[in-house]
Amino acid sequence: MAADVRPPRRDEMHAYYRVLPYANGLPQWEPADAAWHGGPEPWPPQRAPATAEQLDRWVEEDFDDPRFHPVAAFDSGACVGASAALSFEVTVPGGGAVPMAGVTSTAVLATHRRRGHLRRMMQAMFDAALDRGEPLAMLSASEGGIYGRYGYGPATYRTRWEIDRGEAAFLPAPPDPGSLELVDAARARECWPVVHARVRAARVGELSAIRGRWDRLTDQPDGTNGPLRYLLHRSPSGEADGIANFRLPWGSTTAEAGTLVVEALEAADPAAYRALWTLLLDFDLTRKVVAHTRPRDEPLRWMLANPRAMRVTRQSDNLWARLLDVPGSLSQRAYSAGELTIAVDGDRMCPANNGTWRLRSDGVSSSCAAVEGPADLTVSPAALGSLYLGGMSAHHLAYAGRITPHAEGAVARLDRMFRTDPEPHNSFAF
Ligand SMILES: CC(C)(COP(=O)(O)OP(=O)(O)OC[C@H]1O[C@@H](n2cnc3c(N)ncnc32)[C@H](O)[C@@H]1OP(=O)(O)O)[C@@H](O)C(=O)NCCC(=O)NCCS
Repeated sequence: MAADVRPPRRDEMHAYYRVLPYANGLPQWEPADAAWHGGPEPWPPQRAPATAEQLDRWVEEDFDDPRFHPVAAFDSGACVGASAALSFEVTVPGGGAVPMAGVTSTAVLATHRRRGHLRRMMQAMFDAALDRGEPLAMLSASEGGIYGRYGYGPATYRTRWEIDRGEAAFLPAPPDPGSLELVDAARARECWPVVHARVRAARVGELSAIRGRWDRLTDQPDGTNGPLRYLLHRSPSGEADGIANFRLPWGSTTAEAGTLVVEALEAADPAAYRALWTLLLDFDLTRKVVAHTRPRDEPLRWMLANPRAMRVTRQSDNLWARLLDVPGSLSQRAYSAGELTIAVDGDRMCPANNGTWRLRSDGVSSSCAAVEGPADLTVSPAALGSLYLGGMSAHHLAYAGRITPHAEGAVARLDRMFRTDPEPHNSFAF
């Protein structure tokens, strides 16, 4: 029987999950320091294969969710490949929220790799996303060498940094007009969506919350990692406007102990942000703070008397972006005022993208339409993915041969129109 790629039926979902590393106990991330930002350990901890009850629970949770779009590859009737797109909205320059297919949970059985199953699943997910009206796809990559060939380019970055408590003096600043409170997991579950909704409206690259995003927050210890603790900031009028999850892992030697790990921190305004970090960096009986999945342009550095005290210990790509519909996605973000004709060629998976597109912006509204005639520059699909959220230098891409200019000053114009400040960032993966 020929290979077949289609959404799995409900009665095929156990076989679908069993292909996935997180369900079958196999490694799910490249064992490289620069790749994994989920915690201080080099890989996400492996788990035992999922039990039948666990698989039933996942089917129950996922299958009827209208935002979950699984796809499976079958070979001779057996499920050998699995992936899924989750429907999100991503904040783009100008503050719009654009529908996006978040590709996740991708694997092909080790016995069936390199036979084109992923390529066929990816094509099926692209076609289905376009049918749903999602002009973009995004993902985070277990390995950096896989997804460029499908037209994805790195679009956001994340860093892990450390600060010794003894070096964490802040520059003088006005006193915090709000208040801090240590809260339990139930209150944290209530406040996270409130804070995130405000943060994502203002930060390019942030995503609408995934279903159940904060459901698993608990007060129970997680082995030697210790329990998560939650620090909430309220504005003077009592609204939740910043929150952090942190823990104090146990160490088997005194050298390992005393590190406070910040697993997540979001703040809707600078006062909340400063207040949360001020306490976390001066927690009694600790020596060091480690934070991960942080933006490259963390403003905390510039609040410290010694900006060098923040030592970046890892940095890697986070979201990879892929334009499925060039005019549909380019016309939904804002640009600095200008005009540019962009040629896209070589897009075999989304052939309607190939052509020359005139992008016009008055700084507020923008348009993108097909035109005849010469283009100012030619951009590869993956380079366009990297540029889309405004975090990538067009000059770098041109220097690397990913953009070919045909007109004087075109690369500088592209860079000026597309770049955003602060950098795009997404605080959670999916
Ligand atoms: C990544 C994975 C899903 C690829 O599946 P696959 O069916 O083997 O991929 P395909 O056969 O469709 O490969 C398509 C192309 O990608 C290349 N490719 C696939 N996996 C690759 C990898 N890990 N590194 C580099 N190239 C890779 C293939 O060589 C092929 O190249 P070509 O188009 O030049 O011929 C599979 O290797 C896997 O399950 N890996 C372990 C789990 C994992 O990493 N999942 C990704 C989570 S983000």
